[in-house]
Amino acid sequence: MSPPYDLILHGGTCVLPGGEARADIGIRDGRIAAIGALDQDAAVSRFEVRGLHLLPGVIDSQVHMREPGLEHKEDFASGTMAAVLGGVTAVMEMPNTKPNTTTAAALADKARRAKGRAWCDMAFFVGAAAENVEQLAELERLPACAGVKVFMGSSTGSLLVEDDATLAQVLANGTRRVAVHCEDEPRLRERFAMVEGGAPVSQHPHWRDAETARRATERLLRLARGTQRRVHVLHVTTADEMEILPDYRDLATVEVTPQHLTLSAPEAYERLGSLAQMNPPIRETAHRDALWRALDQGLVDCIGSDHAPHTLEEKAQAYPKSPSGMPGVQTLVPILLDHVHAGRLSLTRFVDLTSAGPARLYGVAGKGRIALGYDADLTIVDLKAQRTITNQWIVSRCGWTPFDGMKVTGWPEATLVRGHVVMRDGQVLGDPIGAAIRYQECLS
Ligand code: DOR
Repeated sequence: MSPPYDLILHGGTCVLPGGEARADIGIRDGRIAAIGALDQDAAVSRFEVRGLHLLPGVIDSQVHMREPGLEHKEDFASGTMAAVLGGVTAVMEMPNTKPNTTTAAALADKARRAKGRAWCDMAFFVGAAAENVEQLAELERLPACAGVKVFMGSSTGSLLVEDDATLAQVLANGTRRVAVHCEDEPRLRERFAMVEGGAPVSQHPHWRDAETARRATERLLRLARGTQRRVHVLHVTTADEMEILPDYRDLATVEVTPQHLTLSAPEAYERLGSLAQMNPPIRETAHRDALWRALDQGLVDCIGSDHAPHTLEEKAQAYPKSPSGMPGVQTLVPILLDHVHAGRLSLTRFVDLTSAGPARLYGVAGKGRIALGYDADLTIVDLKAQRTITNQWIVSRCGWTPFDGMKVTGWPEATLVRGHVVMRDGQVLGDPIGAAIRYQECLS
């Protein structure tokens, strides 16, 4: 008779929905089949995880993997390899590729490309545009679709919904939560003269100022209320937005990024130059403090990396020609574990923000907690390991990180995707077995 489990993870501390507990985990057919003290002979293989913490697989709900069309920056193979080396088990990918992901054909093309090449599970956002607004309700239900993404301000690429009339139409077409990049395009255009002829990169948060973010978020929330549509405000960066969001918690969820919680102006621009340039910008410490306060008070629902790689050559162009964005999928877990070590974040809240949170707000099926019947997606971490993040460790095609040289405490030691050990001790193992993330409101 074959043993009841394919794999037993033995002797670790698990972060379960009810809190931390010492427990073994039995895995069968890619799913969690038992949690508790298990007979060690009851599995085909066994993984000793004594001294380590087992977290539900980290879901990075905002990444740009650049395929198709921009593969010199990243592709699904390199970007998802970076993900699993960093302890991430699933990613939701953004639509500002070439072509933009605005049609069923473009979405299916991405799903096809990911098959056999992705190391972690993936889903893809459909970009909202004036041309596809009538089809959004249909598009958002297609297999492997993470939902609809709106750019209210222009960033990398050409996707843009800048006026209230079109945005209201987007919100009126469909039912799933809409993810939105909130920067006010008219104000960005009005103020571009500040930097257009060349300026120090430290001007980036002045051109794209707090008022630019606040205006867009306020417009979005008002329209969300009018249409009764659920929205997710991506990468919130200002104290101003955090002040208005509490009045919209029936409809709006909130994301912050590790870099906005960790870096600050002007120091980041002085030290990193255009490597610190992203949209919305890294801001002064008063805003960063407000993000932490919002996080502590339960106003933040998830942390996504906004992994947005550009090559060093592209970044070397003089500002404002230098593109906005920084890689982050590989460093999300180490950076946040270092905040856990420093006492700024509890491990339970880390799990809420990086796994349970994204699963809940996007309606992911079978992921986001260590629970019977759920996918055996696990991020196995050593909370005491002291390491230094370096550019050499980064496997993203861009080859750099804004955190190069940073010493951290806490490190991802192994990554399991549906029971497959895809990373252990810094090595990628086996084959790229990534599959489509399933959603409750999606066809699959
Ligand atoms: O800085 C950014 N870079 N912000 C975005 O919204 C897009 C991203 C990219 O795709 O490069």
